[in-house]
Amino acid sequence: MQILKSEAELKRALENKKTSLGFVPTMGALHQGHLSLVEKAQQSTDQVIVSIFVNPLQFGPKEDFQKYPRVLEKDFALLEKQKTDFVFVPRVEDVYPQGWKTKINVHDLANVLCGKFRPGHFEGVCTVVARFFQLIEPSHAYFGLKDLQQFLVLQQMARDLFPRLKVIGCETFREVEGLAMSSRNQYLDAKQKEESLAIFRGLNKAEQIYKQGTLDSSELIKVFLQEIEKVQSIEVQYAEIRELENLELIEQVNLPSALFFAGFLGSTRLIDNRILHASEKLL
Ligand code: PAJ
Repeated sequence: MQILKSEAELKRALENKKTSLGFVPTMGALHQGHLSLVEKAQQSTDQVIVSIFVNPLQFGPKEDFQKYPRVLEKDFALLEKQKTDFVFVPRVEDVYPQGWKTKINVHDLANVLCGKFRPGHFEGVCTVVARFFQLIEPSHAYFGLKDLQQFLVLQQMARDLFPRLKVIGCETFREVEGLAMSSRNQYLDAKQKEESLAIFRGLNKAEQIYKQGTLDSSELIKVFLQEIEKVQSIEVQYAEIRELENLELIEQVNLPSALFFAGFLGSTRLIDNRILHASEKLL
């Protein structure tokens, strides 16, 4: 595995790149969820590159940029074990060279759900990912459906700006008990981890009654929230069913759509979702 620490090292390493290059962008503190993306990339491309960069542009002023876990040596060991070809750990000045002023905004999709509560977040995500696409020129890019809105926003951004790139969504990887893996789960203590399982239970219940014929969004959300409310320490930020096509609210689940959730357990923000009615967009 080659560790590339600057734009110059990246360019040198990629001079002789093979025909297909799979790219997995991350912010590090890697877990099985990230590694499942690498594995999926390895199945369909000749070489795989992972980036690790805690992107200052996507964190709000009161968010956890400073305390975000940074464990590079551990990450390198996991990627080495996974037989990753390249890991790119750029400096801020490689990503945003002096004088850089461009920010990328995907209208509509980025203003609801997390976008509403984290102003500027998706602008930061799109800008950094577009910059990586420009530096790395991958043929394929892999994103987790755990961050479903992020995936839909980036898929749209790629369609508009990088039409030859294939953007692939990868299923949410969960702990055995059901909590979606996340670098931020490290902030949770044992009791909170236990409490967080209400999210998974709620999603399961909503999906179950949907499969039994309940299409009414408000009914599905009610069932979801009943599980969440059993745990008083979860503070709900949003629980909404929206269309995958345009992220508009939907009253009846008769088009591709998902239940999206965000909430706080103490000071830790958790998100999760369940696709109820699937779409080709996710393939
Ligand atoms: P990060 O949270 O490190 O996640 C990197 C990638 O791993 C994202 O595509 C995310 O959706 C995926 N991922 C995280 N947990 C997952 C899980 N449990 N199952 C499946 N996939 C999972 O998302 C970001 O970083 C950043 O916003 C980034 C795209 C790198 C831009 O800075």
